Amino acid sequence: MQSTQRHDLSSGLRILRHLLCGLVLVGVSAAIANAHDHPSHEKPKAVEAAILYRPTAMPDRLLLSWHGDPARSQAVSWRTDGTVKEAFAEIALATSGPKFVSTAAKVLAKTSPYQSDLGLLHFHSVRFNDLRPDTLYVYRVGDGTNFSAWCHFRTANAEPRPFTFVYFGDAQNDIKSHWSRVFREAFSDAPRALFMLHAGDLVNRGNSEAEWAEWCDAGGWVNASIPTLAVVGNHEYDMERSVPLPKDPAELKKVPRGFTRSWRHRFEFPDNGPQELPEHLHETVYYVDVQGVRIISLNSMEKPEPQARWLESVLRDNPNRWTIVSHHHPVYSAAIGRDNPELRNAWQPLYDKYRVDLVLQGHDHAYLRTELRSHENIPSGATARSPAGTMYVVSVSGPKMYNKGAAPGVRRGHNTQLYQVISIDGDALRYQAKTATGQLYDAFTLKKKPGAVNELIEQVPNTPEVISPAATEDQAP
Ligand SMILES: [Fe+2]
Repeated sequence: MQSTQRHDLSSGLRILRHLLCGLVLVGVSAAIANAHDHPSHEKPKAVEAAILYRPTAMPDRLLLSWHGDPARSQAVSWRTDGTVKEAFAEIALATSGPKFVSTAAKVLAKTSPYQSDLGLLHFHSVRFNDLRPDTLYVYRVGDGTNFSAWCHFRTANAEPRPFTFVYFGDAQNDIKSHWSRVFREAFSDAPRALFMLHAGDLVNRGNSEAEWAEWCDAGGWVNASIPTLAVVGNHEYDMERSVPLPKDPAELKKVPRGFTRSWRHRFEFPDNGPQELPEHLHETVYYVDVQGVRIISLNSMEKPEPQARWLESVLRDNPNRWTIVSHHHPVYSAAIGRDNPELRNAWQPLYDKYRVDLVLQGHDHAYLRTELRSHENIPSGATARSPAGTMYVVSVSGPKMYNKGAAPGVRRGHNTQLYQVISIDGDALRYQAKTATGQLYDAFTLKKKPGAVNELIEQVPNTPEVISPAATEDQAP
Protein backbone atom coordinates (compact mmCIF):
# COMPACT_ATOMS: atom_id res chain seq x y z
CA MET A 1 0.00 0.00 0.00
CA GLN A 2 2.74 2.43 1.01
CA SER A 3 4.72 1.43 -2.06
CA THR A 4 1.70 2.18 -4.33
CA GLN A 5 1.26 5.60 -2.67
CA ARG A 6 5.00 6.38 -3.22
CA HIS A 7 4.67 5.31 -6.85
CA ASP A 8 1.64 7.55 -7.34
CA LEU A 9 3.47 10.44 -5.68
CA SER A 10 6.59 10.11 -7.84
CA SER A 11 4.44 9.76 -11.00
CA GLY A 12 2.61 12.93 -9.99
CA LEU A 13 5.89 14.77 -9.45
CA ARG A 14 7.17 13.65 -12.86
CA ILE A 15 3.99 14.91 -14.54
CA LEU A 16 4.27 18.22 -12.67
CA ARG A 17 7.93 18.56 -13.72
CA HIS A 18 7.02 17.95 -17.36
CA LEU A 19 4.24 20.49 -17.12
CA LEU A 20 6.61 23.05 -15.58
CA CYS A 21 9.25 22.37 -18.26
CA GLY A 22 6.62 22.81 -20.91
CA LEU A 23 5.51 26.09 -19.35
CA VAL A 24 9.11 27.33 -19.18
CA LEU A 25 9.67 26.41 -22.85
CA VAL A 26 6.45 28.15 -23.85
CA GLY A 27 7.57 31.17 -21.81
CA VAL A 28 11.00 31.26 -23.46
CA SER A 29 9.45 30.90 -26.92
CA ALA A 30 7.05 33.70 -26.15
CA ALA A 31 9.91 35.87 -24.88
CA ILE A 32 11.88 35.25 -28.09
CA ALA A 33 8.80 35.99 -30.15
CA ASN A 34 8.24 39.20 -28.17
CA ALA A 35 11.88 40.15 -28.63
CA HIS A 36 11.45 39.86 -32.40
CA ASP A 37 8.17 41.75 -32.32
CA HIS A 38 9.29 44.52 -29.99
CA PRO A 39 10.51 47.54 -31.93
CA SER A 40 13.34 48.29 -29.48
CA HIS A 41 14.86 44.89 -30.21
CA GLU A 42 14.07 44.80 -33.87
CA LYS A 43 17.51 45.89 -35.05
CA PRO A 44 20.56 47.21 -33.24
CA LYS A 45 20.82 50.96 -33.53
CA ALA A 46 23.60 52.52 -35.58
CA VAL A 47 25.99 54.62 -33.54
CA GLU A 48 25.26 58.21 -34.49
CA ALA A 49 27.94 59.80 -36.63
CA ALA A 50 28.09 62.82 -34.32
CA ILE A 51 29.05 60.46 -31.47
CA LEU A 52 31.27 58.15 -33.49
CA TYR A 53 33.30 60.99 -34.97
CA ARG A 54 33.09 63.46 -32.10
CA PRO A 55 36.29 65.47 -31.74
CA THR A 56 37.95 65.91 -28.36
CA ALA A 57 40.91 67.97 -27.18
CA MET A 58 43.11 65.01 -28.14
CA PRO A 59 44.60 65.51 -31.63
CA ASP A 60 43.43 63.02 -34.23
CA ARG A 61 43.44 62.53 -38.03
CA LEU A 62 47.03 63.69 -38.44
CA LEU A 63 47.77 64.12 -42.12
CA LEU A 64 51.01 65.04 -43.87
CA SER A 65 51.07 67.06 -47.06
CA TRP A 66 53.61 69.22 -48.88
CA HIS A 67 53.20 72.95 -49.12
CA GLY A 68 56.71 73.57 -50.47
CA ASP A 69 59.93 71.77 -51.34
CA PRO A 70 59.54 68.13 -50.19
CA ALA A 71 63.27 67.98 -49.45
CA ARG A 72 63.19 70.89 -47.01
CA SER A 73 59.66 71.26 -45.71
CA GLN A 74 56.72 69.27 -44.44
CA ALA A 75 53.20 70.25 -43.39
CA VAL A 76 50.96 68.43 -40.94
CA SER A 77 47.30 69.07 -40.17
CA TRP A 78 45.06 67.59 -37.51
CA ARG A 79 41.79 68.27 -35.76
CA THR A 80 40.43 68.70 -32.24
CA ASP A 81 37.28 70.01 -30.68
CA GLY A 82 36.66 73.72 -30.29
CA THR A 83 38.30 73.99 -26.86
CA VAL A 84 41.79 73.84 -28.34
CA LYS A 85 42.59 77.37 -29.44
CA GLU A 86 46.38 77.29 -29.21
CA ALA A 87 48.10 74.24 -30.59
CA PHE A 88 51.63 73.44 -31.68
CA ALA A 89 53.95 70.75 -32.94
CA GLU A 90 57.28 69.57 -31.64
CA ILE A 91 59.91 68.26 -34.02
CA ALA A 92 63.37 66.72 -33.70
CA LEU A 93 65.83 64.62 -35.65
CA ALA A 94 64.74 61.05 -35.02
CA THR A 95 67.02 58.95 -32.84
CA SER A 96 66.83 55.27 -32.05
CA GLY A 97 66.07 56.00 -28.37
CA PRO A 98 63.83 58.55 -26.68
CA LYS A 99 66.47 61.22 -26.09
CA PHE A 100 65.31 63.25 -29.11
CA VAL A 101 62.59 64.63 -26.84
CA SER A 102 65.03 67.01 -25.13
CA THR A 103 66.09 68.48 -28.49
CA ALA A 104 62.58 68.97 -29.91
CA ALA A 105 61.74 72.41 -31.27
CA LYS A 106 58.28 73.89 -30.88
CA VAL A 107 56.36 75.25 -33.90
CA LEU A 108 53.08 77.08 -33.37
CA ALA A 109 50.05 75.95 -35.35
CA LYS A 110 47.56 77.91 -37.38
CA THR A 111 44.11 77.14 -35.92
CA SER A 112 40.91 77.45 -37.97
CA PRO A 113 37.39 76.86 -36.63
CA TYR A 114 35.31 74.79 -39.02
CA GLN A 115 31.57 74.31 -38.79
CA SER A 116 31.05 70.80 -40.15
CA ASP A 117 27.71 69.06 -40.65
CA LEU A 118 28.49 67.18 -37.42
CA GLY A 119 29.25 70.33 -35.44
CA LEU A 120 32.16 72.62 -34.70
CA LEU A 121 35.71 71.35 -34.89
CA HIS A 122 39.09 73.01 -35.02
CA PHE A 123 41.64 72.30 -37.73
CA HIS A 124 45.27 72.95 -36.89
CA SER A 125 48.22 73.00 -39.24
CA VAL A 126 51.95 73.42 -38.90
CA ARG A 127 54.50 73.98 -41.63
CA PHE A 128 57.95 72.69 -40.81
CA ASN A 129 60.55 74.61 -42.83
CA ASP A 130 64.35 74.62 -43.19
CA LEU A 131 64.56 70.84 -42.86
CA ARG A 132 67.47 68.70 -44.03
CA PRO A 133 66.94 66.62 -47.18
CA ASP A 134 66.64 62.84 -46.92
CA THR A 135 66.42 62.94 -43.13
CA LEU A 136 64.20 61.10 -40.69
CA TYR A 137 62.33 63.44 -38.37
CA VAL A 138 60.10 62.72 -35.40
CA TYR A 139 57.23 65.00 -34.43
CA ARG A 140 54.08 65.20 -32.38
CA VAL A 141 51.22 67.66 -32.14
CA GLY A 142 49.09 68.84 -29.24
CA ASP A 143 48.05 71.62 -26.91
CA GLY A 144 50.60 71.15 -24.11
CA THR A 145 48.50 68.57 -22.27
CA ASN A 146 46.98 66.36 -24.92
CA PHE A 147 49.48 65.07 -27.45
CA SER A 148 49.52 62.72 -30.43
CA ALA A 149 52.04 59.90 -30.57
CA TRP A 150 55.52 60.79 -31.78
CA CYS A 151 55.42 60.09 -35.52
CA HIS A 152 58.14 59.74 -38.15
CA PHE A 153 58.49 61.25 -41.58
CA ARG A 154 61.45 61.36 -43.94
CA THR A 155 62.16 64.39 -46.09
CA ALA A 156 62.71 63.78 -49.79
CA ASN A 157 66.18 63.82 -51.29
CA ALA A 158 67.06 67.14 -52.92
CA GLU A 159 68.45 65.34 -55.99
CA PRO A 160 66.88 62.86 -58.41
CA ARG A 161 66.84 59.53 -56.58
CA PRO A 162 64.84 56.31 -57.04
CA PHE A 163 61.50 56.29 -55.29
CA THR A 164 58.09 54.63 -55.27
CA PHE A 165 54.66 56.13 -54.85
CA VAL A 166 51.11 54.77 -54.73
CA TYR A 167 48.24 56.05 -56.89
CA PHE A 168 44.57 55.43 -56.12
CA GLY A 169 41.54 56.03 -58.35
CA ASP A 170 38.24 56.97 -56.71
CA ALA A 171 37.67 55.72 -53.15
CA GLN A 172 34.31 57.51 -52.82
CA ASN A 173 31.87 54.94 -51.35
CA ASP A 174 31.80 52.53 -48.44
CA ILE A 175 35.20 53.87 -47.52
CA LYS A 176 35.52 52.17 -44.15
CA SER A 177 34.03 48.85 -45.14
CA HIS A 178 35.41 48.41 -48.65
CA TRP A 179 38.06 50.99 -49.53
CA SER A 180 40.17 50.64 -46.39
CA ARG A 181 41.31 47.13 -47.34
CA VAL A 182 42.72 48.49 -50.60
CA PHE A 183 44.65 51.13 -48.69
CA ARG A 184 46.02 48.52 -46.29
CA GLU A 185 47.05 46.23 -49.15
CA ALA A 186 48.72 49.12 -50.96
CA PHE A 187 50.63 50.18 -47.86
CA SER A 188 51.72 46.60 -47.20
CA ASP A 189 52.91 46.41 -50.80
CA ALA A 190 54.80 49.72 -50.78
CA PRO A 191 55.51 50.62 -47.16
CA ARG A 192 58.34 52.99 -48.12
CA ALA A 193 56.27 54.92 -50.64
CA LEU A 194 57.33 58.55 -50.80
CA PHE A 195 53.70 59.69 -51.08
CA MET A 196 50.16 58.51 -51.78
CA LEU A 197 48.36 60.15 -54.72
CA HIS A 198 44.54 60.22 -54.83
CA ALA A 199 42.99 61.08 -58.20
CA GLY A 200 39.76 62.68 -56.96
CA ASP A 201 36.41 61.57 -55.51
CA LEU A 202 38.05 60.70 -52.24
CA VAL A 203 34.57 60.81 -50.71
CA ASN A 204 31.02 60.75 -52.06
CA ARG A 205 29.78 63.98 -50.49
CA GLY A 206 32.51 66.55 -50.09
CA ASN A 207 30.89 68.28 -47.14
CA SER A 208 30.07 65.12 -45.19
CA GLU A 209 32.39 65.04 -42.21
CA ALA A 210 31.47 61.41 -41.54
CA GLU A 211 32.78 60.41 -44.96
CA TRP A 212 36.01 62.33 -44.45
CA ALA A 213 36.26 60.62 -41.07
CA GLU A 214 36.08 57.25 -42.81
CA TRP A 215 38.67 58.35 -45.36
CA CYS A 216 41.07 59.64 -42.70
CA ASP A 217 40.56 56.60 -40.48
CA ALA A 218 41.20 54.23 -43.41
CA GLY A 219 44.67 55.75 -43.79
CA GLY A 220 45.13 55.88 -40.01
CA TRP A 221 48.66 56.40 -38.77
CA VAL A 222 50.06 55.99 -42.28
CA ASN A 223 48.69 59.45 -43.14
CA ALA A 224 50.82 60.84 -40.31
CA SER A 225 54.00 59.38 -41.81
CA ILE A 226 53.55 59.34 -45.59
CA PRO A 227 52.46 62.58 -47.31
CA THR A 228 49.22 62.72 -49.27
CA LEU A 229 48.77 64.35 -52.66
CA ALA A 230 45.20 64.69 -53.90
CA VAL A 231 43.30 66.19 -56.80
CA VAL A 232 39.63 67.11 -56.66
CA GLY A 233 36.82 65.20 -58.33
CA ASN A 234 33.19 66.00 -58.97
CA HIS A 235 32.25 64.55 -55.59
CA GLU A 236 34.45 67.09 -53.85
CA TYR A 237 31.84 69.43 -55.28
CA ASP A 238 28.92 68.56 -53.05
CA MET A 239 25.40 68.87 -54.42
CA GLU A 240 23.04 71.26 -52.69
CA ARG A 241 20.89 68.91 -50.63
CA SER A 242 18.33 71.33 -49.27
CA VAL A 243 16.00 70.23 -52.09
CA PRO A 244 15.12 66.68 -53.15
CA LEU A 245 17.56 65.58 -55.86
CA PRO A 246 15.98 64.98 -59.29
CA LYS A 247 16.21 61.49 -60.75
CA ASP A 248 16.71 62.70 -64.32
CA PRO A 249 20.53 62.82 -64.89
CA ALA A 250 20.18 65.92 -67.07
CA GLU A 251 18.32 67.73 -64.28
CA LEU A 252 20.71 66.38 -61.67
CA LYS A 253 23.61 68.04 -63.49
CA LYS A 254 21.94 71.42 -63.00
CA VAL A 255 21.84 71.15 -59.21
CA PRO A 256 24.32 73.69 -57.83
CA ARG A 257 27.45 72.27 -56.27
CA GLY A 258 29.71 73.74 -53.67
CA PHE A 259 33.39 72.95 -53.29
CA THR A 260 34.38 70.96 -50.20
CA ARG A 261 34.70 73.61 -47.51
CA SER A 262 37.24 71.63 -45.48
CA TRP A 263 39.68 71.00 -48.37
CA ARG A 264 42.08 73.82 -47.56
CA HIS A 265 41.89 73.06 -43.83
CA ARG A 266 42.54 69.35 -44.21
CA PHE A 267 45.35 69.58 -46.75
CA GLU A 268 48.33 71.91 -47.05
CA PHE A 269 49.06 71.71 -50.76
CA PRO A 270 51.36 74.17 -52.56
CA ASP A 271 49.85 77.53 -53.35
CA ASN A 272 51.63 77.75 -56.70
CA GLY A 273 48.65 77.34 -59.06
CA PRO A 274 47.29 79.98 -61.42
CA GLN A 275 46.74 83.11 -59.37
CA GLU A 276 43.78 84.10 -61.55
CA LEU A 277 41.73 81.20 -60.14
CA PRO A 278 39.32 82.04 -57.32
CA GLU A 279 40.92 81.88 -53.88
CA HIS A 280 39.16 78.67 -52.83
CA LEU A 281 40.66 76.77 -55.78
CA HIS A 282 44.29 77.59 -55.08
CA GLU A 283 45.18 74.31 -53.44
CA THR A 284 43.46 72.25 -56.13
CA VAL A 285 45.85 73.24 -58.93
CA TYR A 286 49.52 72.97 -58.02
CA TYR A 287 52.76 71.20 -58.74
CA VAL A 288 55.42 69.52 -56.64
CA ASP A 289 58.98 68.70 -57.71
CA VAL A 290 60.25 65.62 -55.96
CA GLN A 291 63.46 63.67 -56.65
CA GLY A 292 63.57 64.43 -60.37
CA VAL A 293 59.82 64.23 -61.04
CA ARG A 294 57.32 67.06 -61.49
CA ILE A 295 53.85 66.06 -60.25
CA ILE A 296 51.11 68.37 -61.50
CA SER A 297 47.59 68.44 -60.06
CA LEU A 298 44.80 69.89 -62.21
CA ASN A 299 41.16 70.62 -61.35
CA SER A 300 38.99 69.01 -64.04
CA MET A 301 35.82 70.54 -62.60
CA GLU A 302 36.45 74.19 -63.37
CA LYS A 303 38.15 76.63 -65.69
CA PRO A 304 40.29 74.42 -67.96
CA GLU A 305 41.49 77.38 -70.06
CA PRO A 306 43.21 79.41 -67.33
CA GLN A 307 44.68 76.16 -66.08
CA ALA A 308 46.00 75.43 -69.58
CA ARG A 309 47.86 78.76 -69.65
CA TRP A 310 49.41 78.01 -66.29
CA LEU A 311 50.09 74.39 -67.30
CA GLU A 312 52.06 75.51 -70.32
CA SER A 313 54.37 77.64 -68.19
CA VAL A 314 54.82 74.80 -65.71
CA LEU A 315 55.60 72.30 -68.48
CA ARG A 316 57.87 74.68 -70.41
CA ASP A 317 60.06 75.61 -67.46
CA ASN A 318 60.55 72.14 -66.09
CA PRO A 319 64.01 70.96 -65.10
CA ASN A 320 62.79 67.48 -64.07
CA ARG A 321 63.44 64.34 -66.06
CA TRP A 322 59.91 62.97 -65.54
CA THR A 323 56.51 64.67 -65.63
CA ILE A 324 53.33 63.16 -64.22
CA VAL A 325 49.95 64.89 -64.37
CA SER A 326 46.89 63.91 -62.35
CA HIS A 327 43.29 65.06 -62.65
CA HIS A 328 39.97 63.39 -62.03
CA HIS A 329 38.10 63.34 -65.37
CA PRO A 330 39.92 61.29 -68.00
CA VAL A 331 41.31 62.58 -71.27
CA TYR A 332 40.38 59.15 -72.66
CA SER A 333 37.42 57.73 -70.83
CA ALA A 334 37.23 54.10 -69.79
CA ALA A 335 33.63 53.97 -70.98
CA ILE A 336 32.15 55.03 -74.29
CA GLY A 337 29.64 57.78 -73.62
CA ARG A 338 31.64 59.40 -70.82
CA ASP A 339 33.95 61.41 -73.03
CA ASN A 340 35.42 64.74 -71.87
CA PRO A 341 36.32 66.52 -75.13
CA GLU A 342 36.65 69.99 -73.52
CA LEU A 343 39.32 68.71 -71.24
CA ARG A 344 41.13 66.84 -73.98
CA ASN A 345 41.05 69.89 -76.26
CA ALA A 346 42.38 72.16 -73.54
CA TRP A 347 45.13 70.02 -72.07
CA GLN A 348 46.13 67.15 -74.34
CA PRO A 349 47.94 69.34 -76.95
CA LEU A 350 50.19 70.45 -74.09
CA TYR A 351 50.78 66.86 -72.98
CA ASP A 352 51.83 66.10 -76.56
CA LYS A 353 53.94 69.23 -77.00
CA TYR A 354 55.88 68.76 -73.79
CA ARG A 355 55.85 64.95 -73.79
CA VAL A 356 54.17 64.40 -70.46
CA ASP A 357 55.06 60.86 -69.42
CA LEU A 358 52.03 59.72 -67.47
CA VAL A 359 48.50 60.99 -66.80
CA LEU A 360 46.74 59.49 -63.76
CA GLN A 361 42.96 59.81 -63.62
CA GLY A 362 39.75 58.43 -62.11
CA HIS A 363 36.01 59.08 -62.40
CA ASP A 364 34.93 56.15 -64.59
CA HIS A 365 34.82 53.43 -61.89
CA ALA A 366 36.64 51.03 -64.19
CA TYR A 367 40.21 50.49 -65.35
CA LEU A 368 41.70 51.64 -68.62
CA ARG A 369 45.29 52.02 -69.64
CA THR A 370 45.95 53.41 -73.06
CA GLU A 371 48.54 55.38 -74.86
CA LEU A 372 46.24 55.96 -77.76
CA ARG A 373 46.01 59.42 -79.16
CA SER A 374 42.28 59.50 -79.78
CA HIS A 375 39.22 57.35 -80.17
CA GLU A 376 39.23 58.08 -83.89
CA ASN A 377 42.77 56.84 -84.38
CA ILE A 378 43.02 53.54 -82.67
CA PRO A 379 45.99 51.42 -83.62
CA SER A 380 45.73 47.82 -82.57
CA GLY A 381 48.20 45.84 -80.58
CA ALA A 382 49.86 46.42 -77.27
CA THR A 383 52.91 48.22 -78.59
CA ALA A 384 51.09 51.03 -80.37
CA ARG A 385 52.22 54.44 -79.20
CA SER A 386 51.11 58.02 -79.33
CA PRO A 387 53.33 60.66 -80.96
CA ALA A 388 54.20 61.94 -77.50
CA GLY A 389 54.48 58.57 -75.78
CA THR A 390 52.13 59.73 -73.02
CA MET A 391 50.50 56.93 -71.03
CA TYR A 392 46.96 57.54 -69.83
CA VAL A 393 45.51 55.57 -66.94
CA VAL A 394 42.01 55.51 -65.44
CA SER A 395 41.61 53.52 -62.25
CA VAL A 396 39.26 52.89 -59.35
CA SER A 397 40.08 51.85 -55.80
CA GLY A 398 36.64 51.96 -54.17
CA PRO A 399 33.77 49.49 -54.56
CA LYS A 400 31.49 51.50 -56.87
CA MET A 401 31.72 49.95 -60.33
CA TYR A 402 30.55 50.94 -63.81
CA ASN A 403 30.76 48.20 -66.39
CA LYS A 404 29.15 49.31 -69.62
CA GLY A 405 30.66 50.33 -72.92
CA ALA A 406 34.33 49.51 -72.37
CA ALA A 407 36.47 51.85 -74.46
CA PRO A 408 39.46 50.48 -76.35
CA GLY A 409 42.72 50.27 -74.48
CA VAL A 410 45.82 48.19 -73.92
CA ARG A 411 44.41 46.85 -70.64
CA ARG A 412 40.91 47.35 -69.29
CA GLY A 413 39.09 46.18 -66.20
CA HIS A 414 35.64 46.00 -64.65
CA ASN A 415 34.40 45.14 -61.16
CA THR A 416 37.95 45.22 -59.85
CA GLN A 417 39.28 47.43 -57.08
CA LEU A 418 42.85 48.45 -57.81
CA TYR A 419 45.83 50.39 -56.53
CA GLN A 420 48.98 51.28 -58.44
CA VAL A 421 52.60 51.11 -57.35
CA ILE A 422 54.81 53.34 -59.50
CA SER A 423 58.60 53.44 -59.20
CA ILE A 424 61.03 55.84 -60.83
CA ASP A 425 64.70 55.02 -61.07
CA GLY A 426 66.87 57.16 -63.33
CA ASP A 427 65.72 56.68 -66.91
CA ALA A 428 63.10 54.04 -66.06
CA LEU A 429 59.55 54.36 -64.79
CA ARG A 430 57.98 51.09 -63.68
CA TYR A 431 54.20 50.90 -63.35
CA GLN A 432 52.18 48.15 -61.71
CA ALA A 433 48.42 48.00 -61.18
CA LYS A 434 47.42 45.54 -58.47
CA THR A 435 44.01 44.30 -57.43
CA ALA A 436 42.59 44.66 -53.92
CA THR A 437 43.94 41.18 -53.25
CA GLY A 438 47.44 42.12 -54.39
CA GLN A 439 47.38 40.35 -57.78
CA LEU A 440 49.25 42.01 -60.63
CA TYR A 441 46.69 43.27 -63.17
CA ASP A 442 48.70 45.50 -65.47
CA ALA A 443 52.33 46.55 -65.84
CA PHE A 444 54.70 48.38 -68.11
CA THR A 445 58.04 50.16 -68.03
CA LEU A 446 58.86 53.43 -69.73
CA LYS A 447 62.43 54.25 -70.62
CA LYS A 448 63.69 57.73 -71.42
CA LYS A 449 65.29 58.15 -74.83
CA PRO A 450 67.12 61.45 -75.34
CA GLY A 451 65.25 63.56 -77.89
CA ALA A 452 62.72 60.84 -78.64
CA VAL A 453 59.48 59.48 -77.23
CA ASN A 454 59.78 57.07 -74.34
CA GLU A 455 60.43 53.44 -75.08
CA LEU A 456 57.54 51.30 -73.89
CA ILE A 457 58.12 47.82 -72.52
CA GLU A 458 54.82 46.01 -72.12
CA GLN A 459 54.58 43.72 -69.08
CA VAL A 460 50.87 42.92 -69.04
CA PRO A 461 50.45 39.71 -67.04
CA ASN A 462 49.19 36.64 -68.81
CA THR A 463 45.78 36.78 -67.14
CA PRO A 464 42.44 37.55 -68.76
CA GLU A 465 40.97 41.03 -68.72
CA VAL A 466 38.07 41.24 -66.29
CA ILE A 467 35.40 42.74 -68.52
CA SER A 468 31.70 42.68 -67.78
CA PRO A 469 29.64 40.72 -70.33
CA ALA A 470 27.45 43.83 -70.57
CA ALA A 471 30.33 45.80 -72.04
CA THR A 472 30.98 45.75 -75.74
CA GLU A 473 33.24 48.03 -77.69
CA ASP A 474 30.66 48.80 -80.33
CA GLN A 475 28.10 49.95 -77.77
CA ALA A 476 26.59 53.26 -78.80
CA PRO A 477 27.62 56.31 -76.75
FE1 LIG B 1 33.92 61.23 -60.41
